[in-house]
Amino acid sequence: MIEIKTEKEENKSLKAFNSFGFEAKARYFAAPDSENKIMSLLDDARKHDIPVFVLGGGNNVVFTKDFDGLVLCPKIESISIISEDSVDILLDIGAGVVWDDFVHYTSYVNFNGISGVENLAGIPGTVGAAPVQNIGAYGMEVKDAIFTVRGIYIDDNKTFLLKKSDCQFAYRDSIFKNSLKQKTVITCVTFKLSKKHEYKLDYGNLKDELAKYDKINLRNIRQAVLDIRAAKLPDPKKLGNAGSFFKNPVVERSEVERLMEQFPLMPTYPVDNPDASRDKVKLSAAWMIENCALKGYRQNNIGVHHKQALVLVNYGGGTAQELIDFSQMVQDRVFDKFGVKIEPEVVLN
Ligand code: EPU
Repeated sequence: MIEIKTEKEENKSLKAFNSFGFEAKARYFAAPDSENKIMSLLDDARKHDIPVFVLGGGNNVVFTKDFDGLVLCPKIESISIISEDSVDILLDIGAGVVWDDFVHYTSYVNFNGISGVENLAGIPGTVGAAPVQNIGAYGMEVKDAIFTVRGIYIDDNKTFLLKKSDCQFAYRDSIFKNSLKQKTVITCVTFKLSKKHEYKLDYGNLKDELAKYDKINLRNIRQAVLDIRAAKLPDPKKLGNAGSFFKNPVVERSEVERLMEQFPLMPTYPVDNPDASRDKVKLSAAWMIENCALKGYRQNNIGVHHKQALVLVNYGGGTAQELIDFSQMVQDRVFDKFGVKIEPEVVLN
């Protein structure tokens, strides 16, 4: 048995820590609420050669087996304004703050709120997990609001401070999913938000939803986004799921031309990334899955959600293996029909 001085538990069930609700155990589990506690846990794990897995809210992870190591769930819950001028405001937010609590908070700061994350209301998970997959929704991505990301390297306890431009943000992607994958513990994210509100209302039916309100402000935008989400995304507390299970595939424009000849109604979107080539186009994985007649399709305990085809759900009692087999079937069907590979957005561990 290892002697970790900070509070930790042994043989902890991860069922409540993954939004699919799959059964898996962690040999050790800890939810440290300070950088010092994280460092002391990492020290001990290193001394005893125990692997570490960093978990945010568990909304984007599927545990395929028990984890014979330490699952570390940072619980730093601080919120502080570090500077402001007449336009911008910089806020330091602890990695353990629930993402939507932060969005809620921003809509009240300075009474009228500060803008930059309002369209990301209701995304499950923590602030520390947000930069990892560059969460996005309704025409907004978190990268546009991030100033810096702070954390600790798992290998040597050194701290780091990455500027937004060093984080290699792209569509549902960042350095934390690539060269720094499971190599760091993010402890704090600094956001640069604006007192001059510039709303982004052009995505989907956001404007229509807002027509129900007497005025457009941050609180109403947040509520409108929450209502749109609630209408088609299943609540993970009631039905196991991880939001979008697949990423929308980004393909060459020439590929799209081929597809449009055969499927003229297929939706396409520009790629929102200045580094990406103009020759790339984003397709809708949900549309392709739906057009394979898989929307609402269910095999035993796992299925495609009946209101949003990108979302796979565990109706209860399903296993991670069932989910993996099911998702492979969905990928194969899409590939057979469209010749396009769709890839999971969730992390399979
Ligand atoms: N569509 C279908 N069938 C469906 C759902 C959608 O054909 O069942 C088509 C429609 O043509 C629709 C288009 O897909 O116009 C786009 O649908 P939607 O606006 O619902 O967005 P999405 O591409 O399916 C993405 C994000 C969601 C985010 C929404 C809204 C990814 C992988 N997913 O989904 O993010 O909420 O946009 O911005 O990019 C998540 O990542 O967990 C997530 C829920």
